[in-house]
Amino acid sequence: MTSPWSEEELLDLARKYSFRSRMDKSAVSGPIFVWGRGSVVRDVNGKEYLDFNSGQMCAALGHNHPGIIQALEESAGALIHSHMSMFNDREIILASRLAEITPPGMNRSMFLTSGSDANEAAIAIAKRYTGGYEVASPMVSFHGLSQSTRAVTYSGWRQGYGPYAPGHYALFAPYRYRCSFCADKSGCDYSCLDASFDLLDAQADGNPAAVITEPLFSAGGVIDLPPGWLQRLKTMCGERGMLLILDEAQTGLAKLGSMWAFENEGVTPDIFTISKHFGGGIAISAAITTDEIEEKVVESGFVLGHSHSNDPLPCNAAIASIGIILEGSLVDVANELGEYWNSRLRQLAEKHEIIGDIRGRGLLQGIELVTDQETKEPAYQAGHDIGRICLESGLIFSLRRGGSVIRFVPPFTTTHDQMDQAAGILDAALTQATSGEG
Ligand SMILES: Cc1ncc(COP(=O)(O)O)c(C=O)c1O
Repeated sequence: MTSPWSEEELLDLARKYSFRSRMDKSAVSGPIFVWGRGSVVRDVNGKEYLDFNSGQMCAALGHNHPGIIQALEESAGALIHSHMSMFNDREIILASRLAEITPPGMNRSMFLTSGSDANEAAIAIAKRYTGGYEVASPMVSFHGLSQSTRAVTYSGWRQGYGPYAPGHYALFAPYRYRCSFCADKSGCDYSCLDASFDLLDAQADGNPAAVITEPLFSAGGVIDLPPGWLQRLKTMCGERGMLLILDEAQTGLAKLGSMWAFENEGVTPDIFTISKHFGGGIAISAAITTDEIEEKVVESGFVLGHSHSNDPLPCNAAIASIGIILEGSLVDVANELGEYWNSRLRQLAEKHEIIGDIRGRGLLQGIELVTDQETKEPAYQAGHDIGRICLESGLIFSLRRGGSVIRFVPPFTTTHDQMDQAAGILDAALTQATSGEG
């Protein structure tokens, strides 16, 4: 498909009418996308790009997946929107399908629209369940940009929106590559957690509700958890009567090579949230918890929902997406593709000294760029140069930590051939940016 407007005409309109509040840029500039299939998107000029960001991570099943299109057509012919307080068949079927893939006992789902909505709901449930209001989150976390989720987002985009409600605290993060707690030790000894909870206990008002965390910090710089860290966190939450909320927006539904990232840690949260590719590109999120928690908060009169909560169209897209994930064995696909992409990144790291670290799992991986392997000085400018050169060459990804971390989220549809092409583009960009030609 092409657009009836040229890029220049669209940019002129955008300069006049679009609100420039994007996460990663404030300038009005191309590319302007008009088409996508699988791992490829096309701009208004007909130029194609490998989308190693999966849109905003929501097209991880592949752009315009035929199974999602079919679900949208079904709903368009049946019922798109429905009464928020009455049930529709799609939301009930979705809740029951989801319970087939969630851990035993985590059967209850509430459907919302965005990742922020779902986290806000999870925090509200935790407050109502515990009777407390204090919430903590690691200092590299991202949980959304609504006011209450921004209050527990510490990886950036935070300053200038306050004051936040009282009772939000940051925890130290287990950032092994730059950890000051256990830099000289062979592994994480959880001293970051011990220090965090010492501070939390000292500062808190004695009304704890929850800790919310990602099981791998994506926006914070693709920082994975050391083994045992989440287990220890859960224990420390339990000792204080806090619920553990896991935000699986970026990590759940097969992307890391397991259905849920927390499976690898042997931890079951009290509440977890999903969004991003849950709807195969259609906006839908969920907060999921146990019968016991649902029962207690509902009995207390808990009400939460929005005009589009449980709408049949996004619920049908999510039913289709669960089918695609299970029938396509996408857990295995993420493992296989993740291994392949990781091998390409390791080859690049052998050649380019600027790559200080390779991190992540499955289809969420990143590289950290440094000017010096010893001092680990972050290579911010080189990151921006590499991002620009790759975009010009047809490869999309995102930059995090001020530009020094490149994050790759290729869709499940990506072929080895496309990964080879992406690695080739990246190789050339790394060479150009580090030779002073960037
Ligand atoms: C881990 C995590 N949680 C929550 C959100 C917020 O989701 P949304 O932008 O749909 O509100 C994001 C968005 O990137 C995310 O990465």
